[in-house]
Amino acid sequence: MIEIRDLEVAYDQDIALKELNLSVPAHSTCAVIGSSGCGKTTLLYALAGLVRPQSGSIVIGGKSVSGIRKETGLVLQDYGLLPWKTVRDNLAFPLKARGFGAVETSERVGAMLEELGLESLGHRLPGELSGGQKQRVAIGRTLVLEPDVLLMDEASSALDAMTKELIQNLVLRLHRERQFTLVLVTHNIEEAVFLGQRILVMADGRVQEQIDNPYFGEADFRDHPSFFEMSLKIRRRLYEQA
Ligand SMILES: Nc1ncnc2c1ncn2[C@@H]1O[C@H](COP(=O)(O)OP(=O)(O)OP(=O)(O)O)[C@@H](O)[C@H]1O
Ligand SMILES: [Mg+2]
Repeated sequence: MIEIRDLEVAYDQDIALKELNLSVPAHSTCAVIGSSGCGKTTLLYALAGLVRPQSGSIVIGGKSVSGIRKETGLVLQDYGLLPWKTVRDNLAFPLKARGFGAVETSERVGAMLEELGLESLGHRLPGELSGGQKQRVAIGRTLVLEPDVLLMDEASSALDAMTKELIQNLVLRLHRERQFTLVLVTHNIEEAVFLGQRILVMADGRVQEQIDNPYFGEADFRDHPSFFEMSLKIRRRLYEQA
């Protein structure tokens, strides 16, 4: 589904990604972890077509990425909600912008509010929501367009421990139901282990290691010894790179 070959991205003289190779099968999930500045967001932007690589190629669904791809959804760290629009209007906005009619927009928005447990908050402004609620709206705003690839940057980093886990549970459920290909960037080890079928450890603009996570998606995975073993493995790898 996603094939990256020898990708190099630079901002002026600074090289942010080097010799990056990655393949993410359709409907699978990949968590990208690494210390601040290692190039995670840059990788996501390159996948979204928002930064142009110096060299290498990105192919999604058999087509080379050369700009914004409409089937790719992007959820950013700062939520990117429009502060003057209600929750309902924030969800409707991407549909209207793409020419969906009033009836279909209203149906899709209503279904999304229900799916995300936001029915009672439709009339609120983003400033009247908690962090976890804002994150749910941000996810909903992307999913109303039914993307086949979902890119998420630090989905839960601004949230408290419990809300973080609830958002992670939600992302896992949505992935099961909707089967999008997920690339999720995080610096949280537990989040990478919970949401990544494969975990990519990055350092200094390169992928240092790709680790398969065979128990991904198991019921109550967080309570299993295999969850702790995998977390420990990733933690060790991160410290080795530091
Ligand atoms: N717009 C930009 N102009 C110049 N340099 C940039 C720009 N954006 C990022 N960089 C640099 O590229 C490198 C990778 O940045 P990136 O934002 O991808 O890191 P990150 O892994 O997402 O970090 P964090 O965990 O802090 O979000 C860093 O050295 C950063 O300073
Ligand atoms: Mg980042």
